[in-house]
Amino acid sequence: MSQLRKFVIPELVFGDGAVHVLGRYANNFGSEKVLIVTDAGLIATPWVDKAVDLLREEGIASVVFSDVSPNPRDFQVHAGAEMYHKAGCDIIIAVGGGSAMDCAKGIGILATNEGGISSFQGVDNVKVPCPPLICIPTTAGTSADVSQFAIISDSAEQVKMAIISKTMVPDVALIDPRLTMTMDPALTAHTGIDALVHAVEAYVSTGNSALTDVHALKAIELILKYLPKVVKEPDSYAWREKVMFASLHAGLAFSNASLGAVHAMAHSLGGTLDLAHGECNALLLEHVVAYNYSYAVERYERIGKIVEIGLGMQEVSGVEAICQGFRRFREHMGVKGGLGQRGVSSENIPVLAEKAMSDPCLVTNPHFPNQRELEEIYEKAL
Ligand SMILES: [Fe+2]
Repeated sequence: MSQLRKFVIPELVFGDGAVHVLGRYANNFGSEKVLIVTDAGLIATPWVDKAVDLLREEGIASVVFSDVSPNPRDFQVHAGAEMYHKAGCDIIIAVGGGSAMDCAKGIGILATNEGGISSFQGVDNVKVPCPPLICIPTTAGTSADVSQFAIISDSAEQVKMAIISKTMVPDVALIDPRLTMTMDPALTAHTGIDALVHAVEAYVSTGNSALTDVHALKAIELILKYLPKVVKEPDSYAWREKVMFASLHAGLAFSNASLGAVHAMAHSLGGTLDLAHGECNALLLEHVVAYNYSYAVERYERIGKIVEIGLGMQEVSGVEAICQGFRRFREHMGVKGGLGQRGVSSENIPVLAEKAMSDPCLVTNPHFPNQRELEEIYEKAL
């Protein structure tokens, strides 16, 4: 360990029933009125009502903001902040996947800071701490509940803004794997592969450290082992818990080591074409590994060993075998074909690459690519 590294995580409660301590935590913050941030799809699940009931039992009132889309937009953050102020809220609780949690983080920024949400993009640009934020994830993969990241789409520029700041780490994460049991198989696979990519990118990141490595390697091992089981048996709590635990490890790793080209390029696809984040990551991973391999050979070889054991493959060594391992895994999880089948065409590529070039995640990629190189990666992933 030769360099100083900072490691930030929220207070967290993990396990079956973790959500039940919500009222107590809200009370500890002295809250009288909560803004619950969620999305329309989750209103149909029992989880939002459950949160409202748990708060009511503690005598705490709440209002629900559910106008949050996948790839949450700047105007949704602004609308949520308006509701927060108008209703006189004092804390924020996010119930949902990455979209709801990222939107909640954005609302938190505007609750205490002046200006539009776009003025906070980049690293360490949030000056005033946000109101208390409790995150209750309902997917296993994004890890926004433990991370320093908030990703919001700029609707005018059609670009995803990455807001990276210690102030974005939630105060409390209540990680209850039972809440992920309502995910459909495709979302389970996409979010699970997102977690895998978090772990891989954190491990090869130029911001890696001995502390983030431990979490990244454990996450890769667990996801390769348990994601196929949960996709096959989605009603098994035991598998759901394993994948949630893996996602937590991946989140602790990437929040502190940052990410790389897969995320920079996936953010560009999400901002420009509104494509699903986890699916983009799944389709880009093997092509980014092919580009990155020679810049981090030892680290990719270590990952190759885990892929070899996890997938029961023979001798996963060298760039081709490692890429093939990842391809095999995502296809086995149901992510087949390429970006071309998701509406991406070669005409989109220059703009996609240009936007990815300015994404903060690219900074910690093992090697900083030029725009032409990113265009080539997109072409291969079509
Ligand atoms: Fe991600």
